[in-house]
Amino acid sequence: MGKDTLTITDNRTGKTYEIPIQYGTYPTYGASIRTADLRQIKVSEGDFGLMGYDPAFMNTASCKSTITFIDGERGILRYRGYPIEQLAERSTFLETAYLILHGELPTRKQLDEWTYHITHHTMIHENIKKFMDGFHYDAHPMGILVGTVGALSTFYPDAKDIRDPADRKQQIFRLIAKMPTLAAFAYRHSLGMPYAYPDNDLSYAGNFLNMLFKKTELKYKPDPVLEKALDVLFVLHVDHEQNCSANAMRSVGSSHVDPYSAVAAATAALYGPLHGGANEAVLRMLREIGSKEKIPEFIKKVKTREALLMGFGHRIYKNYDPRARIIREIARQVFTVTGPNPLLDIAIELERIALEDEFFVTRRLYPNVDFYSGIIYEAMGFPVDIYPVLFAIGRTPGWLAQWQEMLTDPDQKIARPRQVYTGSDHRDYVPIELRR
Ligand code: SDX
Repeated sequence: MGKDTLTITDNRTGKTYEIPIQYGTYPTYGASIRTADLRQIKVSEGDFGLMGYDPAFMNTASCKSTITFIDGERGILRYRGYPIEQLAERSTFLETAYLILHGELPTRKQLDEWTYHITHHTMIHENIKKFMDGFHYDAHPMGILVGTVGALSTFYPDAKDIRDPADRKQQIFRLIAKMPTLAAFAYRHSLGMPYAYPDNDLSYAGNFLNMLFKKTELKYKPDPVLEKALDVLFVLHVDHEQNCSANAMRSVGSSHVDPYSAVAAATAALYGPLHGGANEAVLRMLREIGSKEKIPEFIKKVKTREALLMGFGHRIYKNYDPRARIIREIARQVFTVTGPNPLLDIAIELERIALEDEFFVTRRLYPNVDFYSGIIYEAMGFPVDIYPVLFAIGRTPGWLAQWQEMLTDPDQKIARPRQVYTGSDHRDYVPIELRR
């Protein structure tokens, strides 16, 4: 193999430039050039130099990261090198959150301490209930979550000290611990039910179910199958490298704002139907299709661009999303407790048709993480508009890991992309009486 450089000839000037190629862990996945090295390519002294133009960052690495690895061609997902299939089967959400944030699996002592701190930060300030009550009963819980997690920044002014590792750690405990409480309070508010407070005797997922579904019983007892299924679903959502909401977390966090405000921005990004809002959109799509007989008619609408097949397609995965495969298996376990969900049959038939149909095959559209998750959530009794909130709870440790990696990366500074200006050249102001 030759030198690790690019030789670029600018045919406008005949000059050639040698630009170093840098690598990540794998020589054939992640080789890159520093786009700043293109700036030396000019036609004249006054020339600003070349930039890279890459709308939606289709082929731009915004950072170096050691957190998550995805190989979209082979359908591989690993957190800190550990395959998602093994973590889903053998780990727990809090252990995986520890791994994603610290880079290593915890010892028993570390996990116990980690679990203790998160368990004892689940309460929220009573004042938060006052603005929670201010929302309409039918306010979308993601809108409530964006507002309330952002408002948490006003209760913890010390969170601004983002350079202090001990301070960051305290906010990380609080955010992982309080997202389920905010989500559950939003849900109870929508039903007009009293808030159910955290129960520190329960697991992370069990306590979330408790705060959502506790009625008049003295102590809520989560169904172990549902508790385990929810914990695995959280594991599957923990991180996914530089997705839209992680990019929002890094970009907003790069201004050195507190992590609550940055998580509010990431939550807002996740809310969109093209991102985390897709799990809710999938359920609505399956309900709209209504029966297997109506699938061909819906597929026609997709082909004429009247509709997207929600839960299908992915910027990175051009193969089956490994999370979708695991979730489909979890569905079978959940349905042994909740009873079958007729929408699953429609989803499986939709997938079968889509995986054979040339329109989807040529575009390499496969089920993604959102295709089956909503069906499980519905069977577990969650209302459809809370699905993206469940995604946000699972993704919070990932956002915080990305945020912390950005803050401690010497390569990083405030995010401020360039642009290619295509607007008007200089022109003088025209008084209104002279305008036509
Ligand atoms: C998540 O990035 C992440 O990692 C995200 C995520 C995470 O864990 O953080 O994995 C979570 O957001 C999963 C994705 C959830 N969204 C959906 O399910 C919404 C439906 N999917 C599409 O909107 C789309 O597939 C995206 C947004 C997911 C990806 O879009 P891209 O990469 O920009 O691809 P594209 O829009 O350029 O599509 C390429 C072609 C186009 O057709 P042509 O114009 O080339 O003819 O495929 C078509 C698109 O029209 N297409 C679809 C489709 N997705 C893409 N056509 C019908 N239905 C779809 N779902």
